[in-house]
Amino acid sequence: MINTRSNTHRAIVVLLLTFALSSSGAPAQGSPASGEQVNARVKALLSRMSLHEKIGQLSQVGALDLKPDQRKELGDLLPEDSVSIEDHVRRGEAGSILWTTDSAFIRALQHVAMEESRMKIPLLFGFDVIHGFRTIFPVPLAMAASWDPDLVENAQAVAAQEASAVGINWTFGPMVDIARDARWGRIVEGAGEDPFLGAAMARAEVRGFQGQQLGTPGRVVGSVKHFAGYGAAQGGRDYDGAYIPEEQLRNVYLPPFKAAIDAGVGTVMSAYLDLNDVPASGNRFLLRDLLRRDLGFTGFVVSDAMAVRDLQTHGFARDPQDAAFRSLTAGVNMDMASLTYLRNLESLVQSGKLSVTQIDDAVRPILEVKIRMGLFEHPYADSSAAESILTDPEHLKLARVAAQRTMVLLRNEDSFLPLKKALASVAVIGPLADSEKEIQGSWGVEKAAKAVSVLEGVRAKLPNARVESAKGADLQRKYPSLVDIVFGIKPAVPLPEDQLKNELDKAVDAARRADTVVLVLGELANMSGEAASRASLDLPGNQQHLLEAVVATGKPVVLVLLNGRPLNISWATEHVPAILEAWFPGTEGGNAIADILFGDANPEGKLPVSWPRTVGQVPIYYAHNLTHQPENDKNFTSRYLDVPTSPLYPFGYGLSYTQFAFSNLQLSGATLAPGGSLQVSIDVENAGGRSGNEVVQLYLHQRAGSVSRPVRELKGFQRTFLHPGEKKTVRFTVGKDELSFWSPESKAWVEESEEFDVWVGGDSTASLHASFRVASE
Ligand code: NOJ
Repeated sequence: MINTRSNTHRAIVVLLLTFALSSSGAPAQGSPASGEQVNARVKALLSRMSLHEKIGQLSQVGALDLKPDQRKELGDLLPEDSVSIEDHVRRGEAGSILWTTDSAFIRALQHVAMEESRMKIPLLFGFDVIHGFRTIFPVPLAMAASWDPDLVENAQAVAAQEASAVGINWTFGPMVDIARDARWGRIVEGAGEDPFLGAAMARAEVRGFQGQQLGTPGRVVGSVKHFAGYGAAQGGRDYDGAYIPEEQLRNVYLPPFKAAIDAGVGTVMSAYLDLNDVPASGNRFLLRDLLRRDLGFTGFVVSDAMAVRDLQTHGFARDPQDAAFRSLTAGVNMDMASLTYLRNLESLVQSGKLSVTQIDDAVRPILEVKIRMGLFEHPYADSSAAESILTDPEHLKLARVAAQRTMVLLRNEDSFLPLKKALASVAVIGPLADSEKEIQGSWGVEKAAKAVSVLEGVRAKLPNARVESAKGADLQRKYPSLVDIVFGIKPAVPLPEDQLKNELDKAVDAARRADTVVLVLGELANMSGEAASRASLDLPGNQQHLLEAVVATGKPVVLVLLNGRPLNISWATEHVPAILEAWFPGTEGGNAIADILFGDANPEGKLPVSWPRTVGQVPIYYAHNLTHQPENDKNFTSRYLDVPTSPLYPFGYGLSYTQFAFSNLQLSGATLAPGGSLQVSIDVENAGGRSGNEVVQLYLHQRAGSVSRPVRELKGFQRTFLHPGEKKTVRFTVGKDELSFWSPESKAWVEESEEFDVWVGGDSTASLHASFRVASE
C-alpha cells in the first residue's frame, strides 16, 4: 500500500534538506549533514593538508594569560612556548584554543584561522563550562541531587547559550566519574556514586550542551570525561592511580560514559590517572577496545591538560617523543596544551615510526566534528546578541529553581522548618554566611554574575526583621590550589588566634540576641574540585568549635551546609534540629536557601551519595556485595567495632515538608522470560499538608548467579508531583537493560535466569519488597 502521507512528508524533508545545503555542499547550522557528505569534505581537506597542518589539528594550544610570578609558581606545569598563539593559528598549528573566555580575542583568533591560515579550518574554543558561565547553577553533584534530568538539560542549555554567546564552542563536560570516596575533591564535579543516576545525568547534560545534534545554534560540543576510572583514585588523592577490575569498570564506571556516547557526545577526554598500571592517556585498552570498539564512540578524544607530556612524568614513556607516540597510537586524537604532538609527531613520521595514515586517522574525527558543528560556515559568535543572552533574567529564574530543587533536607526534627516569616530577629552566622564567591562553587567562572549570599537571601525574605551576621570562624586552605594560582587568586592570610577568638565571641553574642540562628558552615569553593582532596571530612577550620558554641546558647539553630562533598556532621546530627544540605548552589543560592528555610519552596533533593558517619568509612556506597556475614544493625560490630557500617544518611535520601506514603507494590507477573519485561507499580500518596515532589526509586537485586551481585542497585526513578491527599500509581518497566550485567565469567553482558528482589520507595533503604524470577520456560 502506498502511504501518500509519509511520501509527501519524505519529499518535504528532502526538499528542506536540499534547501539547507549551501552551494558548497555544507549543511546550514542545525541541520544534520549526512555521513557521506561529511566524509567527502574530510577527504577533500586531508588531501590538501600538509603533514604539519594535520598535526596542527591534533594540537590544542593553551591561551592562559599568565603574569611572570604565576608562571614561576606553576613551574614547568605548563610548557614554555616562544611562538605567539596568533602565529600558531596562522601557521595551521592549532586545532583548538584552550582557556580563553575573552570574546574579542576569540573572534580575532578565529579570524586569523579563517582568513590568514592556508587551510582556513575553524578553531574550537574549549573551556570548562561545568555548571554555568555567566549564570552559575548548582555544582554537578547538587544537580544530581535533583534527580531531575529535564532540569539538568535546561540548565546546561543555558550554560551552552551563554558560553557560545562569547564564542566558546566546546565545553569539557559532562564529568561523569563515579565517585565513592568523599575525600576526592572532584566528587563535586560529577553525579556521585551511582552508575544509573550517573547515566541519567550524563545523557541530560549532553542533550543540554549539544541540543538535538551537533551544530544546533546556541549550543556547544560536549566532552565526556575523564575516561575512565578517575573517581577511584587511591586514598581519594587527586591524580592518584587506581586498580579497577574489568567487571567493575564495565558495570560501574563506564555506564555514564556509554549514556553520554549514546546521546551523541562529540568528544571524550582521557583521564590523568594511571589505571591498572597504564596511564589512561596512553591506554589502548581503554581508548581503543572499550571506547571505540565496545562503546561505539566515533568522535574524537582529547587528552586532559598536559596528560600527553605527562606520560613521561608517570614513568611510562621514555621521553616526549615516546609520549607522543604512545598517546597517539593508544587513541588520543588531540593533545591538550602540552604541545607534545606539535613538537614530536612530525619527526616520528619522518623516521617511519608513524605513518601518515595513522596521522590522517587521528585528524579525521576532529574535522568531522568541526564539519558537523557547522563551524566552517558559522565560525563566529553573533556578538550583537551576546549581552542580551548573558543578562537574560530567565536564566536567573532557572538558576533559582535549580538551586531549590537540588537542596537536600537531611534533618527536620518536629517540623523545625520551615521558619516563620514573622520572626523578629535572625542571626545568619558562619564564615560562609555572607559569601557571594564561595556560594558559586568549584567552577564559578571569573565573569560570573554577582551571586546572592545567604545573608542577602534572608534579608530579602525578611525585610522587617533584624538580621544580624557574624563570621565566627576562619576558613583557609592549608596549601594553595592549583586553580587559584592559574586564576591569580592569592590565598587569604589566616586570622591570628586573638582575632579568631574575637570573631567567635561576636558570633555567639549575635546568636544570643536572635530569635533563631541560621548557621552557614561548610567549605570554601576551592576546597572541593580539582586538586582539592582532603584527608579529613571534618568541618574545616574552627567551624566545629563555632557550631558547638552557637548550639550551646540554647537558641534554635538551623544548619545550612555549603560544600562539595559529604562532611562529618555526626555531632550536628545529634544536636541540631534541622540540617539543610545546600551544596554550592550558584548565583541564586542565597535566595533559594531563603525560599526553602522560610517555606516558599519545598525541599525535594535526594542524596546522590551515601553520607558517611566518619572518614574511616570511605569508600562507602550502597551497592556493595554481601559478605559471608551480612551486616545488619545487630551484628555491625563484626565489621567495625567503633561505628556501624551503615552511612549517616543513605543514598537517595532526603526529607520534604510533606510526607509520602508508599503502598501496594505490584508486579505484572512472577516470572519473565530472558529478554522479556515486567511492570512494577506502586502507589504513592502525599500524606502531609503541602504539595511536593517525591523521587520514587526502584532497586533490584539478583539473588544468585555466575558471580555475586550488589545487595541492591538503582534501576529506575521518577519524580512525581502530588498535592496533599493525592495518590498516584507510579509504574516502572523492568527488562533486559535493568537485569543484565557484565559477567567476568563469560566476559560478556548477561541476563541470568535467577531469582530477583525488587524494592520501591523513597531512598535506598526502601522496604516495600517483591520478588520475581527470570526463567527460560
Ligand atoms: C584539567 C581537568 O582535569 C579537566 O577536567 C579540565 O577539563 C581541564 N584541566 C581543562 O581545564
